[in-house]
Amino acid sequence: MTTETPVLRSADGVLRQIEAASEKQFLPIVGPHKGKILAEEVRKAKPRHVLEVGTLIGYSAILIGKEPDESAEIVTIEIHRGEAEAAGENILKANIPAKVKIITGNVIEVIPTLGGPFDFAFIDADKTEYLQYLELAEDKLRKGAVVVADNAGIFADQMSDYLDYVRNSGKYQSRFVRVGGDGMEISVKL
Ligand SMILES: C[S@@+](CC[C@H](N)C(=O)[O-])C[C@H]1O[C@@H](n2cnc3c(N)ncnc32)[C@H](O)[C@@H]1O
Repeated sequence: MTTETPVLRSADGVLRQIEAASEKQFLPIVGPHKGKILAEEVRKAKPRHVLEVGTLIGYSAILIGKEPDESAEIVTIEIHRGEAEAAGENILKANIPAKVKIITGNVIEVIPTLGGPFDFAFIDADKTEYLQYLELAEDKLRKGAVVVADNAGIFADQMSDYLDYVRNSGKYQSRFVRVGGDGMEISVKL
């Protein structure tokens, strides 16, 4: 007899639909392989307040928010209104336990308006701006906060300033996790 809850089945169903859509059209979602690592980090960190930079249509927000902790809140930022609206619909369908607030706007303008503090961040927007996002969010990240940065393998050259900062500033303990031809930089704020 399975003990899986309807909530998880619904979230997983929406994730599988988005993955299927991404095989037919360009949808730069984190995907199931890196997504597994991301979900493991969320499970370990048990964050209450999550900042997501780059919503697209809600795939990674659902992945993060489906971990069953009713009190978790995710603030996710997306510059394109159409994508933000699609994310809202997908997140509603996924019926996840976390509360998700989608903010439509430019991350660089939005982060300074947020209160925080956050104990987990997922960065997945313009690769050349990762360091700027982190610097804007840094004071709003708790000590011990986990920051996961996507595409640290394939776009390492575009985010070299970010990688240099998290690895060498002394402010983070950072490691690269390779997944296939890409990977994620996972950094813990000291
Ligand atoms: C790689 S996609 C995010 C994928 C999503 N995290 C997922 O795995 O499902 C990057 C998203 O960031 C958005 N974006 C890029 N630069 C941005 C900015 N400066 N402010 C807000 N959103 C931005 C893009 O419109 C795009 O939807």
